[in-house]
Amino acid sequence: MTLALIVRLALICLLLTLIMFCAAQVETADEMEQDSIFEPSYLSYDDIYRDFTQKKMCKRCHPAIWREWERSMHAKAWEDPIYQEAASQVEDREKKCDPCHAPEPILITGIGKMPKLRAEDRKYGVSCIVCHIDAHGAMHGPHKSENPMYHANVTSEAHAKPTELCATCHGQPSVPEHNQVDSFKNSPAAEKGLNCASCHMPAVKRQLSVHTYETVTVRRHTWAGSRSVSKLKSAVNLKVVRTEGKATVRLTNKAGHLLPGDALRAIILEVKIADSSGTVNRDEQVLISALSSKPETSRLLPGETRDFVYSLSDTETIEVKLRYRLTPTTPETEWVTMAEGSQ
Ligand code: HEC
Ligand code: HEC
Ligand code: HEC
Ligand code: HEC
Ligand code: HEC
Repeated sequence: MTLALIVRLALICLLLTLIMFCAAQVETADEMEQDSIFEPSYLSYDDIYRDFTQKKMCKRCHPAIWREWERSMHAKAWEDPIYQEAASQVEDREKKCDPCHAPEPILITGIGKMPKLRAEDRKYGVSCIVCHIDAHGAMHGPHKSENPMYHANVTSEAHAKPTELCATCHGQPSVPEHNQVDSFKNSPAAEKGLNCASCHMPAVKRQLSVHTYETVTVRRHTWAGSRSVSKLKSAVNLKVVRTEGKATVRLTNKAGHLLPGDALRAIILEVKIADSSGTVNRDEQVLISALSSKPETSRLLPGETRDFVYSLSDTETIEVKLRYRLTPTTPETEWVTMAEGSQ
């Protein structure tokens, strides 16, 4: 064999290899296009569901969010003893109650649609995947995450301004007891452009995941509500104004919705009127709740100011306390003081 022939053969081989390599490249690009973002390297819905229940997988990469969620009422939505006690008295609970307290992922059932009851793993209540996963296993969130690992990411307006997302469970017209969204829609907070997350998922700067280097503005997954003393204190403004022969107790609802927010709760206005010797002349409790049939003791609308007027002689003083009762059986020693005033 001459040297020229060897060189020619080697060149042909090189050319063939090149052609094969290019063809292979074209094929993968085609496959990727067909599969859009759901590359085979991302896990499927079933894989992620299994990893969530068996390994609490989200915790590894989103530990701060996990810790917050774990302590929230969403994590306890199923095991919560107050819920279990109430639901146990409902004959048709699997239809009427359980679907929102242990739901299937709501992006699959549909945002705004009545959630469906999960067949299994109910103890996780309203879990990470209930709010984030779609049928392909991709996580929807407000950020334009470009370096996904483990799961695919989809940028979602529904998460950036989540009132409609929350309304899936907190705004079903057929469940008025647990509806905060309808009253919110006509609130001063909505007028100001706030949404449910503005007050219940405070903004904080931190990494999106343990694999992220830069710090961005994200939201805490705490959902403080009626178990938080500071939240309860921020819900109302109480003023006592004394004028000729009377005292006016003025309550203003500063929450984003009806106060109290749930039909089971009550706020109690305690009024004590005493004379200068300390003798109590009037001592009463006014119960404000969804159970009341009178307009003056019905729940306060968002932004509403309501006056309670008491006659008061020159020698008398008035002391007022506003207290919060979680359920009708909560003992008085556990009621939370929301505000106080005197004149
Ligand atoms: C549309 C979804 C939905 C359905 C259906 C539903 N709930 Fe709820 N439930 C919620 C939401 C959201 C909350 C939290 C907000 C609130 O308290 O209003 C809640 C809170 C509760 C609480 C308060 C728990 C606590 O510890 O404070 C009880 C009790 C409760 N639900 C019982 C029931 C019962 C009983 C049924 C069936 C008759 C039921 N729920 C049906 C969504 C639902
Ligand atoms: C009740 C629904 C709900 C649940 C449950 C929930 N999230 Fe979120 N999550 C949201 C919303 C709404 C946002 C968008 C917040 C924002 O605007 O930044 C969000 C944002 C995120 C983000 C992006 C960072 C941020 O705050 O913007 C990550 C990551 C995330 N969630 C992970 C999780 C994990 C992990 C869990 C479980 C431990 C979880 N989420 C549970 C509703 C939920
Ligand atoms: C192996 C690590 C890893 C695991 C496990 C993981 N994530 Fe993520 N997640 C990431 C990374 C990385 C990002 C993108 C962060 C970035 O862009 O900086 C992300 C982003 C997100 C986002 C934001 C999407 C967006 O664009 O706004 C959500 C929501 C989210 N993850 C939810 C979850 C949930 C729920 C679980 C558990 C089922 C989970 N993740 C498990 C690594 C992980
Ligand atoms: C301006 C701030 C603000 C906005 C906006 C807001 N909330 Fe609230 N929310 C509060 C305060 C304060 C409380 C505590 C008072 C109470 O429990 O009624 C509260 C309580 C709650 C509770 C507990 C109710 C109960 O009785 O246990 C739920 C559930 C809730 N909010 C859901 C929502 C949802 C859903 C939205 C969006 C439609 C929303 N909130 C918008 C301030 C706000
Ligand atoms: C899939 C249904 C579901 C979605 C979506 C959902 N929640 Fe909830 N939420 C619940 C249930 C059920 C509870 C009550 C758990 C309990 O007390 O047993 C709850 C409890 C709460 C509480 C605590 C109430 C208390 O008693 O203090 C707050 C605050 C809250 N949710 C706010 C939100 C906000 C804000 C959003 C939207 C980002 C949201 N939720 C989305 C079902 C949901």
